[in-house]
Amino acid sequence: MVQNVASVMAELEPEDFHLLSGVEQGMRFSEYVAREKLTEFSRLTTEDVDYRLDRCADRGLVERKTIQYEGFKLTFEGYDTLALHTFAERDTIEGVGSPLGVGKESDVYEAQSYKPVALKYHREGYTNFREVMKEREYTADRDHVSWLYTARKAAEREYDALETLYPNVSVPQPIDTNRHAIVMEKIDGVELSRTKLETAQVLPILDLVLEEMQTAYREGYVHADMSEYNVFVTNEGVVVFDWPQAVPTDHENARELLTRDVENIVSYFERKYPQEISNVDRDAVAERLATDAFDSITEFTE
Ligand SMILES: Nc1ncnc2c1ncn2[C@@H]1O[C@H](COP(=O)(O)OP(=O)(O)OP(=O)(O)O)[C@@H](O)[C@H]1O
Ligand SMILES: [Mg+2]
Repeated sequence: MVQNVASVMAELEPEDFHLLSGVEQGMRFSEYVAREKLTEFSRLTTEDVDYRLDRCADRGLVERKTIQYEGFKLTFEGYDTLALHTFAERDTIEGVGSPLGVGKESDVYEAQSYKPVALKYHREGYTNFREVMKEREYTADRDHVSWLYTARKAAEREYDALETLYPNVSVPQPIDTNRHAIVMEKIDGVELSRTKLETAQVLPILDLVLEEMQTAYREGYVHADMSEYNVFVTNEGVVVFDWPQAVPTDHENARELLTRDVENIVSYFERKYPQEISNVDRDAVAERLATDAFDSITEFTE
């Protein structure tokens, strides 16, 4: 598990960040960055590079490898540190608190700003490889696609979607982004997967979710990972979150992905609330959503 780097931040000196960002720059060209290259990338003296490398390695921010040559790479913790440093410099956040959630491909923490916010670090690097191969922008070493790039790209996509959709769609308000991290409004709610809705709430809540999907489609996006795990139920209604894989509606698979999203969410409701909802025609619902003509799920259930 990736450690919370918040406690390390206070121990770091400006030159440590220069070193880390030197390693980051070097990783555009190779997985490990040779020690000799680091003076150039970090603009530190050879002695300082050695000293800083030890400090950063001791704190788990860089990893050393000595096979053909001695090289260093950032760990996720090292990359987190750089993003956090930027947020602190911009006064986006003042401190990091406890975890809000650990997903397959992210770590989310509560953070302190003028109000509590959510800080999401993307971790896509190891898993979501193929998608990124198609549009990678650099790498000298042709087989090397850095996880830095993959995770950064995922954060960028999620942030772009949030910026487009907020506030017309009920999504967390985007606040800032840097590298693989995004800062957004913290939602006070319970994931749909962990709620047991009252009978009278079932269809209205499903309607709210489908309406958000309809508005998102009108605004140009299909979520493409809709599930009971990516919807919060709050006192005010629902909030749809987790948008890194969102696909623009002009994408060739957009319609198909919309149908799959409908399928995921509708089958969850049918499984969990068979008394209230059954035999929904998914294609018909998706068609309505895509044409901005959806009104209520009651038209589609027995
Ligand atoms: N804005 C937010 N406010 C409060 N909690 C959040 C917020 N965003 C995420 N979380 C918490 O963090 C958890 C993980 O977030 P998210 O679903 O965005 O990423 P993920 O689960 O890694 O993605 P995936 O669904 O691919 O596994 C959520 O289940 C939720 O509990
Ligand atoms: Mg999720």
